[in-house]
Parts: sequence; structure tokens; C-alpha cells
Amino acid sequence: MSIKNLASINQSFYKKDLISIDQLDPLSIQIIFRTTQHIIDLLQKNEGGDILKGVLATLLFFEPSSRTFSSFAAAIKRLGGVTVEYQNPTTTSSTVKGETLEDTVRVFENYSDIIIMRHPMTGAPIRAAQAAHAPVVNAGDGSGEHPTQALLDMVTLFQRFGRVDHLKGVIAGDLLYGRTVHSLIKAFAMFEGNELYLLSPPELSLPPELMKEFTKKGIKLTQLETEKEIPTDCQFWYWTRVQKERFSDIKEYERVKNRYVVTPELLKERGNKEMVIMHPLPRVGEIDNRIDSDPRALYLTNQVKNGMYIRMALIALIMGKL
Ligand code: CP
Repeated sequence: MSIKNLASINQSFYKKDLISIDQLDPLSIQIIFRTTQHIIDLLQKNEGGDILKGVLATLLFFEPSSRTFSSFAAAIKRLGGVTVEYQNPTTTSSTVKGETLEDTVRVFENYSDIIIMRHPMTGAPIRAAQAAHAPVVNAGDGSGEHPTQALLDMVTLFQRFGRVDHLKGVIAGDLLYGRTVHSLIKAFAMFEGNELYLLSPPELSLPPELMKEFTKKGIKLTQLETEKEIPTDCQFWYWTRVQKERFSDIKEYERVKNRYVVTPELLKERGNKEMVIMHPLPRVGEIDNRIDSDPRALYLTNQVKNGMYIRMALIALIMGKL
């Protein structure tokens, strides 16, 4: 592809919102991979520290976050940008006085070039994007989507296998409320030949409408009943947490939490040498700590680092800096 074409594709991100993985296509995902690698290369040479100079981003996180909040903040600051950071605005901003989400973002866009929002309510970032003139990035909304998590997961697999098509993997845990897996399965469905094996308590299985939507796109999805059915030739296992905060009945949560746990024994029985083990984190017992030192475990290393790098790439593209 010519430099001119590449530049025009990069332009397609300019000042755009990113609310759902559906807004991307295989080419734009590859551009994000390429831009991420470009930034990694620059940083290794101690260059690129001014890519976001003059950019001010507002981080509005209405729901707790460790990785997404800090990696966006680190990404922007390490590339020379600055941030207005609001954690828990529900109790510390004028939201407590009844200010609407729409008014809140319309105020913050006066101070900033881009708004990055996490919210417990599915669809809140769409409302924010409709109200704001500044671009809005969804940093996770309820049980809806988490597009930047899917991008960091895909780039992690791309670095390891050199492709994100024709991969076979297990996606386990909370597939009902899990926004990370909703975005990730959508991303996999864009590329040919991917086969995903879904492992969840029946109460937390992928909603039938999403199952239908994804399979219509051509991806092969197979629901497993037990760990014993995991194919032994997978390239990855992607485990997720059963999310206590999505349950109104704590007894129901206690009943289904940690139904499936990655242990050295399970890995020995159903794993293989080439595969990788991934998790968006936080984890609360569903991956045994003894796995952490296994070189196949990427959840505390590659995935976390790539979270910052892809967010650098994404913000630079949206701000028209690369
Ligand atoms: N993976 C993820 O979204 O982590 P945080 O909730 O800590 O941001």
C-alpha cells in the first residue's frame, strides 16, 4: 500500500468516536497494529515523546478501573499530552447535584480535545458521543463493549502468532455481562477462519442474540459444557472474571464464581507448549497464581504493556498526529 493511501486511511480515524468495535474493519485494525508497533519502535529509541504535545484529554471514569484509566493517562502523558482526570464523578462532580451525562460532557469538551469515558450503564458513551462535538472513546460501558481492550488483546495475539485469522481459542468466564469478550468476539469475527470455544456457567452464557449475530458473520462458535472438552490444539485461552458487581443476588454470584479455574493441572491436561494464556484482569481466583510464572501467561506482562501502546496509537490517530 502506498504512503498516500496509508495517510488517507489514518485520516479515517481523525476526530472520530470509538464506541464499538463495529466501527472498525480489518484494515483499520491493521492500521492500529502498525501504528502501535511504530510507537513501540520510537519509544525504544527514546523518540516520540512529543507526539501528543498540545493535546488535552479528559478521563471521565464513572466506574472503578486500574488498567484502563492508568494506561490511557500514561499513554497520553508519555507522548507529551496532558489530562483532566475524573475518577468516580458520580460522587465528586456535579453529577451528584443531578447534572445530566450530556451536560457533563458538553462542559468538559470545552477544556479538552478528546473525552475518554467509562460508565456502568451500557450505552452511556453513545449518549456522550451524541452530545459532544469532541471525539469520545468508550473505555468500557456496563455489559456492553470495551473496544480498546479488544484491540490490545488482538495486538498481543498478533505479536505472538503474526496473524489474527485462523486462530483457535477458548473464551471462558462471564460471557453474558462480559464487555471485554463481547468486543473481542466481534473483532475475531472480522477475520477469516477463527474458531472460538465458549466455556461459561449456563447462567452466564453468551446471549442468544449475540450468538446469532456473531455466527451470521461467519465465525465458528462452539459452546463447551466442561473443561474436559477444551481442544488441546488451541493457540490461546482467554479467561475472564465473573463480575460480582453485575449481580443483584449475591447468592447467585457465589454459586457461579470460579466454576472454571486455570490450574497447572488443567494446563497440563488440555494445554500445549505454543499456546498463550490471557485475561483482561482484574482476576479474582479464576487463574491460579502458580500459572503467573509460566512463559505462556501474558496477562500481567504483554497485555498490560500493550494496553498503553495501543491507546497511544489510537489517541494519536484520532488526534491526527500520526
Ligand atoms: N481490563 C480492564 O478494563 O481493567 P480495569 O477495569 O482495571 O480498567
